[in-house]
Amino acid sequence: MLAQKLSPTSTFNTGKDIIQLRNIVKSYPCGDETFYALKDINLDIKKNDYVAIVGPSGSGKSTLMNLLGCLDTPCSGEYLLANKAIEQLPETELAQLRNKSVGFIFQSFNLLPRATALANVMQPLVYRFIPHKQRLAMATEALERVGLKDKTQHLPNQLSGGQRQRVAIARALVTQPDILLGDEPTGNLDSQTTQEVMNLFDQLHNEGHTIVLITHEQEIADHCQRVIRLVDGEIHSDIRNH
Ligand SMILES: Nc1ncnc2c1ncn2[C@@H]1O[C@H](COP(=O)(O)OP(=O)(O)O)[C@@H](O)[C@H]1O
Ligand SMILES: [Mg+2]
Repeated sequence: MLAQKLSPTSTFNTGKDIIQLRNIVKSYPCGDETFYALKDINLDIKKNDYVAIVGPSGSGKSTLMNLLGCLDTPCSGEYLLANKAIEQLPETELAQLRNKSVGFIFQSFNLLPRATALANVMQPLVYRFIPHKQRLAMATEALERVGLKDKTQHLPNQLSGGQRQRVAIARALVTQPDILLGDEPTGNLDSQTTQEVMNLFDQLHNEGHTIVLITHEQEIADHCQRVIRLVDGEIHSDIRNH
């Protein structure tokens, strides 16, 4: 298949791969037929990779991202996240692995409108057995890291778009995940704010995070170290930027 021919990084169990996808298929029933959103995807992402996923609308980018983040399951194929075959994990273990390993950032921020920045960032910690005082300290630190130390008590509608997205990034970071997944994280931002948010991703990458961003913007793809292009549910190209 095209996907395999153009995927030179495919080597199983190199040890440093944090994400390994083998022959992943995702399909949906469509009348009497089957629609394939992802067709036989083979992909390895290494720890500290900085990846852009690009491709036309409907090419399967969000479907792939949802699988990577364990928000959805493939119809067939194998997914190893941090060397664990996720389809074999019981639901509670899968939820734990997801909560520990992956932080999500969405285009529309998805903040709780009536909660302060601090409360939004504390939210993922509610599912962990962490005392309130420590949660407060962790969320405050995450907001400091994204440059919003003085906005902890603001509600989302009292913040600019860039600030809201930084709150969302702090919320993704607060659990100290290995991987940050962003589905068009700068899609609603102007170019200057996009630059600010990208600088933050650069910083997080330099600190050792693995980053995977879906983007429509060439500038952002150019900024990443690796660009994977999806077309019609297949990996059309997988290129390292220099
Ligand atoms: N739940 C679903 N049921 C049926 N089709 C779906 C579903 N989710 C996604 N699709 C289809 O899969 C294809 C890929 O969708 P998506 O991954 O959202 O594309 P992208 O993010 O690249 O724009 C689209 O044609 C979409 O309509
Ligand atoms: Mg999408």
